[in-house]
Amino acid sequence: MFLTISGATGFIGRRLLQLYPPDQNSLVVLARKNPCLNPLIHYGHWDPAVAEPSRELLHRSEAVIHLAGEPVSQRWTPAVKTAIRDSRVLGTRNLVSAIGKMRHRPKTLVCASAVGIYGNRGDEVLAESAKPAKGFLPDVCADWEAEADKAREHGLRVVKIRIGIVLGADGGALEAMAPLFRWGVGGVLGSGKQWMSWIHVDDLARMIQFAVENEKVSGVLNGVAPNPVTNTEFTRQLAGALHRPAFLPAPEFGVKLLYGEMAQILFASQRVKPAAAEAAGFVFRYPQLRPALDAIFA
Ligand SMILES: NC(=O)c1ccc[n+]([C@@H]2O[C@H](COP(=O)([O-])OP(=O)(O)OC[C@H]3O[C@@H](n4cnc5c(N)ncnc54)[C@H](OP(=O)(O)O)[C@@H]3O)[C@@H](O)[C@H]2O)c1
Repeated sequence: MFLTISGATGFIGRRLLQLYPPDQNSLVVLARKNPCLNPLIHYGHWDPAVAEPSRELLHRSEAVIHLAGEPVSQRWTPAVKTAIRDSRVLGTRNLVSAIGKMRHRPKTLVCASAVGIYGNRGDEVLAESAKPAKGFLPDVCADWEAEADKAREHGLRVVKIRIGIVLGADGGALEAMAPLFRWGVGGVLGSGKQWMSWIHVDDLARMIQFAVENEKVSGVLNGVAPNPVTNTEFTRQLAGALHRPAFLPAPEFGVKLLYGEMAQILFASQRVKPAAAEAAGFVFRYPQLRPALDAIFA
């Protein structure tokens, strides 16, 4: 398959690349600097918020997978908020605009989005039809998806994957959490009642591949496992998988002091279900949290 991938150097992208061996696929990786991944993978320079990618880089691509974006898990200074938004909203606009100018266009665009679009929803069960919330992150996600949707006007099939908390060994949420638990200072966040919609990185990479290769799939897919858990349950399972206690709860005001406005995503309750992916026939390898954690820490 001919594929163009942005964000391939990131946590999810690196795992995704393993599903597309470059000796059997033609891969172009769009990145801000040459990641020197593999001599068989073609590198194309692209800084999403700055300009359109060169159309030559997209030439012959059957599908474009767009994952690039400024990391969200950092203190949200005004400059960081601009980078979070522009890298996604302007970035996707630039990508779609370049595609629109091509004579032979890719057939499919699979674009990342996030469950952050749903905001803080308590115990409500959130399928893809749930209404987006309002606020900094929900607005970024909605505008990001709207830019991706414009590719439909150019005849592409568009899939937006609202990604949850991605669990894996070499990045993502566990990279920050696991050391705290290993040192015995991990614990419940705030009330612990907030729902966490997680997914094993292998399943997410497979879901992206499923979206690329399954022509019947379009629109939104919630990129989460079918069994979300509360923060209390997540804490218990993570401590168990690491054979460590978890007795130090982190009070909400302390975490807010440390992380500022960004802390809201740590306390947001999102009980998200992958209704569309399951209806389309996607089968999870890790539907339950504990086996997912055990596989990661094995
Ligand atoms: N991991 C999660 O739990 C999670 C949850 C929800 C949504 N998502 C979304 O899924 C996508 C991929 O996530 P990830 O965890 O793989 O992210 P990641 O590890 O932070 O990698 C994202 C990639 O985006 C590019 N990038 C970083 N800053 C950028 C900037 N300012 N402007 C343009 N590009 C920039 C980088 O690629 P280059 O350096 O090669 O240019 C980087 O490799 C992101 O859009 C993220 O918001 C992830």
